Formats: sequence, structure tokens, C-alpha cells
Amino acid sequence: MKIYIGKNYDDMSEKAFETMKAVVTQKPNAVLGLATGSSPEGLYKYMVKDYQENGTNYENISSYNLDEYVGIDRNHPESYYSFMHTRLFDHINIKEENTHLPSGSTKEEADAYEAALEKVSIDVQVLGIGQNGHIGFNEPGTSFDAPTHIVDLTESTLNANKRFFDNDINLVPKQAMSMGLKSIMRSKKIILIASGKEKAEAVKNMIEGPVTEACPASILQNHADVEVFLDPEAASLLSK
Ligand code: F6R
Repeated sequence: MKIYIGKNYDDMSEKAFETMKAVVTQKPNAVLGLATGSSPEGLYKYMVKDYQENGTNYENISSYNLDEYVGIDRNHPESYYSFMHTRLFDHINIKEENTHLPSGSTKEEADAYEAALEKVSIDVQVLGIGQNGHIGFNEPGTSFDAPTHIVDLTESTLNANKRFFDNDINLVPKQAMSMGLKSIMRSKKIILIASGKEKAEAVKNMIEGPVTEACPASILQNHADVEVFLDPEAASLLSK
């Protein structure tokens, strides 16, 4: 793992953007794996700024998102479909038909998303990390062999995400469809972004802890090309 500790969130986001920009300029038809949430927002802002200022071309780029809530209309403001459109897709020239998000609530729908993923090869996968070490919505205890599947979100994740739902845990969808750890590990390159002290323990476990299903992100120690972008708070428990 290559670890970059930025001066702050913005600095870390800019560095992550440099890696992303290298991928999309070297391969104009690259396949991006994308995440939602607070961690990649800065990266997406830099991508939009770069598109506006330099015209980086996304016409032949395609994307596959990590996850989506179950039981939420895609036009709900907190759906991951809405997130991706408002933060990124509506501001660059990626084609709507080239963007893909999981959707549905059944095993058949999850299998269909996995089958679509198996036909492509993700060039760069963007990840955040949950306070409990989840990546995508692969919660602790998820098998390292899991493909795209329907997940019951843990109390920790529901609590972390209630900030998007009027701070009311009862409004947070209880399930999501998520790429599995097996799906994520197939990506050629991984960018993982984490900021804030509440991520410090998960970051330490991911980088320095044993590779264990108790910390899903620890599987990334087995991937050949992972770049981790941290702010000083998220890096604060690392031993070196
Ligand atoms: C989002 C996702 C999640 C988040 C994680 C961190 O698509 O898959 O794993 O990356 O919950 O969320 P933030 O970045 O909001 O702290």
C-alpha cells in the first residue's frame, strides 16, 4: 500500500485527484469504480474543476458504483444515484448510459450487477472506509469471497449515515446492495480516501492489523496496487 498523508482534507483530495487524472488521461475509455459519501466529495470537486478548466474528456469513460440503498427511490435526494449526479455526473461529459449503479432488492438483481461487473475490468476503484472498517457496504464478518449482494446495514453504519436523514436513524434505509469484497479486489487499482479522527482506528486496522473479516478493509493488504489518501486525523493512530 502506498500511503499519502495530506495537510488537510483538501490537500488529500487533490492528491487523490492526481491519481484519478492520470488514469483517465492515459486511458480515455477507462472504467471507474465509484463511491459516495463525504470521503470522495473533494476528489469529485477536483474532477469537475479540472473538466471545466481543462476539458478532460469523459465521453468514453464508464462507471460502476459500489452500492445503493434498498427501498429508496433513485430520485430521493439521499439516494446514491442522486449523489453521483449532483456531485459528479451532471458536471462532466460522462454519458448517462455509461454510468451504472446497483439497484433493486433481490439476489437476482445483485447477481445481474455482478455479471455486468465481471464483463468489464475496473481500472480504478474509489473507496471510503466505514468507522467499523467496512468498504462498500461489506460490514465486518462479510466473507472475503462475497460477490455483489444485499446487505443488512449495522447499527454503526446506520448511526454514521443518519446525518443525511434528518439525524433520525429510523429514516435510514436498513439495507443496501453492495459490490462484494471479491468484486472490489478485481479492480486493477484502488484509491482509498479517509478523513477525520473517527476513521483513525479503522485506518490503523486496515493498514497495520491482521487481514481478517472482522475488518473488511484489511483485505486491501492483499491487493497489489492500493493508494491510501489520509488527512492527519485519520492517520493519527498509525505507528509510523
Ligand atoms: C459509499 C460506501 C461506504 C462509504 C463509507 C464512508 O459508497 O461504499 O463504504 O465509503 O461508509 O462514508 P463517508 O465517506 O461518508 O465517511
